Amino acid sequence: MSYQLKQIYCRPWTLNGLSLKLIESHYENNYGGAMRRLNALTEELAATDFEKAPGHVINGLKREELIALNSTLLHELYFACLGGEGHITPGMSAALARDFGSYQKWKAQFRGMACALGGGSGWVLLSYVPRDGRLINQYASDHSQGIAGAIPILAIDMYEHAYHIDFGANAPAYVDTFFRNLDWSAVEGRLEDATQVAPPRPLIQKEFGDLPGLGVEEVREMMREGKPVQLVDARPRHFVSRQQDIADGATWRDPERVQEWMGELSKTDPVIVYCAYGFHVGCKTAITLRDAGFDASYMKVGHSGWRAAGAPTKMFK
Ligand SMILES: [Fe+2]
Repeated sequence: MSYQLKQIYCRPWTLNGLSLKLIESHYENNYGGAMRRLNALTEELAATDFEKAPGHVINGLKREELIALNSTLLHELYFACLGGEGHITPGMSAALARDFGSYQKWKAQFRGMACALGGGSGWVLLSYVPRDGRLINQYASDHSQGIAGAIPILAIDMYEHAYHIDFGANAPAYVDTFFRNLDWSAVEGRLEDATQVAPPRPLIQKEFGDLPGLGVEEVREMMREGKPVQLVDARPRHFVSRQQDIADGATWRDPERVQEWMGELSKTDPVIVYCAYGFHVGCKTAITLRDAGFDASYMKVGHSGWRAAGAPTKMFK
């Protein structure tokens, strides 16, 4: 199955300050060239015996396939960014203000990144990351550095073939011309589509129902704010003796003997329980405390997550 060429998305004769010669050369030689390479590689890969081919042959073909495929995808996105009049839409202005402070701050960052590639090569992309529901400017060299799971919605090509015919080595003039031709309503449409993509599926522990779980960041924020948090380390005894450290601010309690120590806790202040990794022990202990009338929740990431976040620990005696 071969990849199909797409029509150039923008109307080249309507562009302001980007010549037909430049755009035609870019579409035919660079986009078309990547597509031709991609199809040749696809055929070669189909004929490759992956059980017998040497590693360097497999690596080479798959690396070139990645570069060629990403080059076609990014060029299609690039041409789809052009053809507008450069006027930011209210929706994009709000999205950029949320994630960068303001449209101007975003533009300064994106423009700076693009100009920094002048004389070099690469892409600058504005991408949406479903995991966090936010936009980020990223740099991509060799057509192949993409944030895993992110969706690029705006791309500027900073390879010299994208501007040399019209601008020589004057990369900043090209970047400013690109901004003048940006089709922001198309960018906004792509953002709308990108936000429909679901974030990675969360870990669900069905057996614990809707037990409230907190992230390590939330717990630390509560402690920083001076809230009267009762942080309980409920790792099984053998975990504690093996690891020898405990979250600063936590008290270790044996999860096997919860009935014995729960009376020492306050019922008015929140109790946050954690175990080794955030699975059964912490959840069960938190449920036992909730059933006994405590305002208890569990810290989802456990002791391991506390350490992974670089939060302070102390020696456990
Ligand atoms: Fe290009």
